[in-house]
Amino acid sequence: MEWLQVRDVLAGDGAGEKACIRGWIHRKRQSKKIAFLVVRDGTDVIQTTVRAGTEPFPEAEKVTIESSVEVEGTVHADARAPGGKELRVEKLRIIGLSDTFPITRDQSTELLMDLRHLWVRSVPMNRVMRLRAAVFQASREYFDTMGFVEVHPPMFITAACEGGSTLFKVPYFGKKAYLTQSSQFYLEALITGLERVYCVAPSFRAEKSRTTRHLTEFWHIEAEEAFCGLEGTMRTQEDLVAHICQTIATRFPEELQAMGRDPEVIAGVKAPFERISYDKSIDILQGRGVDIPWGADLGTKEERELTMEFEQPFFVYHYPAEAKAFYHRLDPEDSSKVLCADMLAPEGHGEIVGGGERTWTIEEIMSRINEEELDTTDYEWYLDLRRYGGVPHAGFGLGAARLIKWICGMEHIRDALPFPRTMNRIYP
Ligand code: 4AD
Ligand code: MG
Repeated sequence: MEWLQVRDVLAGDGAGEKACIRGWIHRKRQSKKIAFLVVRDGTDVIQTTVRAGTEPFPEAEKVTIESSVEVEGTVHADARAPGGKELRVEKLRIIGLSDTFPITRDQSTELLMDLRHLWVRSVPMNRVMRLRAAVFQASREYFDTMGFVEVHPPMFITAACEGGSTLFKVPYFGKKAYLTQSSQFYLEALITGLERVYCVAPSFRAEKSRTTRHLTEFWHIEAEEAFCGLEGTMRTQEDLVAHICQTIATRFPEELQAMGRDPEVIAGVKAPFERISYDKSIDILQGRGVDIPWGADLGTKEERELTMEFEQPFFVYHYPAEAKAFYHRLDPEDSSKVLCADMLAPEGHGEIVGGGERTWTIEEIMSRINEEELDTTDYEWYLDLRRYGGVPHAGFGLGAARLIKWICGMEHIRDALPFPRTMNRIYP
């Protein structure tokens, strides 16, 4: 007998055809006459019914929520059943009888985090995981179509990309080593052979901030392009994000709705995105009563306030040099600013992408390193990229969980991935 998936059973005629499925007991309800077992597999859930007096009834009485089972029966259309079909059971085999499942309705967030290894099988989590997979798939689709080559940089590194304060140190055979905060420097090395590259990899930040948007480990979608400037990378970024949004809105309208998100909002995301200068963003913020001096980077609070004015993602460009990392190229027309941009998601979500043009001549990068009082010995190989055929180039990093948090209208970033890592969460 061939195993069917629930999705295919639901798509059938429901005219009494045979079906064998396997999965887990999602719900159970029982009277003296009949047992209703809702079975879940990797595709959907289906109601199965077992009548008293039939051979499988004793097993149906015994089976517990989340037990794994094999079920054989006939499919009948039934408007009362979820999905419009029910499977009338002829054979039921318990593969693994579950202990009393510790998750019931209305559990606290803390408990669901402690039991994350069990909670990931829930319908809401499965929904997010499927949508998340599509975000990565759509990203690759976009990059591959545009001639970017996927590359695989290392996660053990020796030089900070985003400043020393959020580096995780790791013991490495007596040498100094860290977990990478961004693959950017390695992508910069790889463009010299490949011109346009991207990677999908974890990044790590020893973030001591307990916000709704900071993880200590996050999946980072990063890209780098040779012969490209700030405007060029902003175009790549907005095309990428628009493509992801179109894909999700088309493929997941029901899932978005189930999360309380209007799919039309996501379907409406189209390039080009609005661009506002850092200076203008400070004016807007001050106009809204936020006390922020010129020169400071925008933090969680400022971005929340600023993005309330917008319905679509937008860029903030030309940040003050003092607010950003040393690798950003100074604006030749105003050296107090750098040629960078952050993409901010609307409705309070804030930064989802950071990127811009890189300092690419040896003279410029040396002067930035000296200004920031960094140790050049840490950056020798990075400097070589400027010594041996440097070219203007630009790139960006997109935080996948940040993007998903906004697309799905989530309050907390932890809901955007199966096993979130934060300052106070490393188990399970
Ligand atoms: O703005 P960031 O720090 O920029 C970089 O790392 C660049 N080197 C990227 C590049 O140009 N290749 O980080 C980029 C993005 C942010 O916009 C945000 O979406 C995400 O990474 N991110 C985080 N996501 C979750 N938790 C954190 N702690 C994050 N820190 C950054
Ligand atoms: Mg940033």
